[in-house]
Amino acid sequence: MAKLEGSFELSKLALADGHSENSPYFDGWKAYDLNPYHPLLNPCGIMQMGLAENQLGTALVDEWVEKHTRFLAWKDTLTSFKETALYQDYHGFDSFRKALARFMEEVRDGRAKIDPDGLVLTAGATAANEILTFCIANPGETLLVPTPYYAGFDRDLRWRTGVEIEPVECSSDESFQITLPALERAYRTALKKGKTVKAVFITNPSNPLGLTISPHTLYQVLDFAREKSIHVIADEVYAGTVFSSPPFTSILELIQSSNKYGPETVHIVYSLSKDLGLPGFRVGALYSSNQTVRTAARRMSSFSLVSSQTQALLTSLLLDSGFTQNYLLRVRKELRRRHGDFLKGLREVGVDCVEGNSGLFCWVNLGKLLRIDDWEGELQLWRVVLEKIGLNISPGCSFHCSEPGWFRVCFGNMSEEDMNVALGRIRSFMSNNGGAGRGDGGGSKGMMTIPEEAPPMVRPHLSYVLDAEQQA
Ligand SMILES: Cc1ncc(COP(=O)(O)O)c(C=O)c1O
Repeated sequence: MAKLEGSFELSKLALADGHSENSPYFDGWKAYDLNPYHPLLNPCGIMQMGLAENQLGTALVDEWVEKHTRFLAWKDTLTSFKETALYQDYHGFDSFRKALARFMEEVRDGRAKIDPDGLVLTAGATAANEILTFCIANPGETLLVPTPYYAGFDRDLRWRTGVEIEPVECSSDESFQITLPALERAYRTALKKGKTVKAVFITNPSNPLGLTISPHTLYQVLDFAREKSIHVIADEVYAGTVFSSPPFTSILELIQSSNKYGPETVHIVYSLSKDLGLPGFRVGALYSSNQTVRTAARRMSSFSLVSSQTQALLTSLLLDSGFTQNYLLRVRKELRRRHGDFLKGLREVGVDCVEGNSGLFCWVNLGKLLRIDDWEGELQLWRVVLEKIGLNISPGCSFHCSEPGWFRVCFGNMSEEDMNVALGRIRSFMSNNGGAGRGDGGGSKGMMTIPEEAPPMVRPHLSYVLDAEQQA
């Protein structure tokens, strides 16, 4: 290659590793992409259980769109073709913000009031989280984030903003719930590092725990933030996936029913990616009653608008309350059934998990299978599950879990048949490994036949998965 003169160096941001894509969380996706399972075409391929996608209601949305194609052709829509094709007002269509506010209230069972003017539209919750971080913290300042937390936050909250995360370490002894001592510890640690703490960032319901946060804990978070004079950000993208008790409580409900907390310091993130299963549409929003945050966020949202066509189509869908009611009811019912079946299947082979009530996944304890009780041991086990059983599940280290051995396993992105194939693979793997954890003495650490040297991670064709299948 010819040598060019001058400075062609790229920016620090482009060259740095802050996007966190080089992690087992994303490596598992790459492995899946190279060898995706298909019941007929590739029955020995890798099954994708590392993607929190909601496909349980896709057919319902598809059916609605099919019946309402006139909305796609701008017949009977609230906007004309011209209005849709030309530059949009970057506040988004009023009609769409009203429709989204209505749906957000419905998802919260009408117990929280959403003012359409408080919504700033963004291309998914990813953008909303970054924009809120940009609004609240300067580079080098810190957010307190309870662990385990969604792996994408390292990218969304930190990478381009230069903001740092101080983990609030939650432990399995307390079912990974946020506690006041854990918040205080994280706060003190950040101060010792010379950092300014700007907010507590919670995810309710939690990804990866699949659990709602209780009103008691939410009050503790609010009280803590009030005492320290810091903001609260609540990512509520899984609000509509709560399928069993206790019910979901939005932090908005609490601040709206009390004068104690300054509403201008509490901000919500939402999207249609999880609750309506539309991550490809890229529709999200942040909700704030802080006028300065709203204005700044709206300006920043220029970089990540929701297309007019998407807004026009979804306005009609979200205003169809008959559809949304039926959708939420059916998806929640299906999630409850799937979750129950999946947990039962895991427990039958001695695998323990957190008893979740929401989300598209479960938080599974494979600690008993670790050959060595540390992060390397967890990664070894993850590689074995990926390569020997052909399941892409996500290791706890990618969620910054404070204890090795936990994994997030998604089940909302696959058919019931595929979920049963996955359970079958787990069953045969467990029986080949002495029924670890069945309470019969077979569950002690070191029982599993993991190769001394874990094999390289990604192989185009997993013949060893074939071996595992044949053993089954
Ligand atoms: C807690 C949480 N927040 C935000 C996101 C990103 O959502 P979106 O697809 O709307 O950008 C995810 C995706 O998995 C998530 O789990």
